[in-house]
Amino acid sequence: MLLEIRNIDVLYGDFQVIWDVSLEVGDGEMVALLGPNGSGKSTILNTISNLVPHRNGEIAFEGTPIGDEPTFKRTGIGIAHVLERRRVFPHLTVLQNLLLGAWHDKAKAARAESLKKVYGIFPKLETRADQLAHTMSGGEQQMLAIARGLMGLPRLLMVDEPFLGLSPMVVRDLIGIFKNVVAEGISILFVEQNVRLALSMADRGYVLESGKLVVSGDSEALIDSDEVRRVFLGDKV
Ligand SMILES: Nc1ncnc2c1ncn2[C@@H]1O[C@H](COP(=O)(O)OP(=O)(O)OP(=O)(O)O)[C@@H](O)[C@H]1O
Ligand SMILES: [Mg+2]
Repeated sequence: MLLEIRNIDVLYGDFQVIWDVSLEVGDGEMVALLGPNGSGKSTILNTISNLVPHRNGEIAFEGTPIGDEPTFKRTGIGIAHVLERRRVFPHLTVLQNLLLGAWHDKAKAARAESLKKVYGIFPKLETRADQLAHTMSGGEQQMLAIARGLMGLPRLLMVDEPFLGLSPMVVRDLIGIFKNVVAEGISILFVEQNVRLALSMADRGYVLESGKLVVSGDSEALIDSDEVRRVFLGDKV
């Protein structure tokens, strides 16, 4: 397994929001983390990045525990995290944002090559290289945030709500891009509220409810699961 989370708890102060969660992402897998608002999806990604500490349990990447490593070292070991609401550096240009994604030694050495590659994936970013990031549209900023993540040469790309506020056409483009990223051997763990959309693209999914995992499995099985219907539609089963 590329990423293994075992039985973690997460608290904000005294307030526990994640209870005994275990989750795995394999090599070249696309995995969806699903759940209603406030169920703890972002907290889990933030815990993997160590923006938020966990209590109990363990997080391992490529078989090595990474729980205590500081956040800034995460890209160096191969984890890229595209935060909720596509946070780019607003007053830097597109190119400056991209180059900042490649700050660790290995990524820096491959910068020119990576830039060519992300421009191949997102041609618009090349034509807008000198534009200030905050003047890009929402969809373009999401592309930029993902491209910046890829500049760090990740083995795991984590994306928090990639489709939020994007038009169906941009969503369709992004889905195609995610599939290509995975085809290149990079695993993706993404958070999404639209269950059908998420499970139509992911290999597997995990469903959180109030900080606890209620069901997980292959996408096809989850789409028809009563638990998923109950969590998202409030259906009685
Ligand atoms: N910094 C924080 N301090 C205190 N509580 C927090 C903090 N961040 C999140 N929480 C709480 O933790 C719980 C889980 O929040 P989280 O943001 O992980 O949920 P989410 O599933 O990502 O929700 P959404 O779909 O709305 O983005 C919520 O009850 C939230 O209020
Ligand atoms: Mg969230």
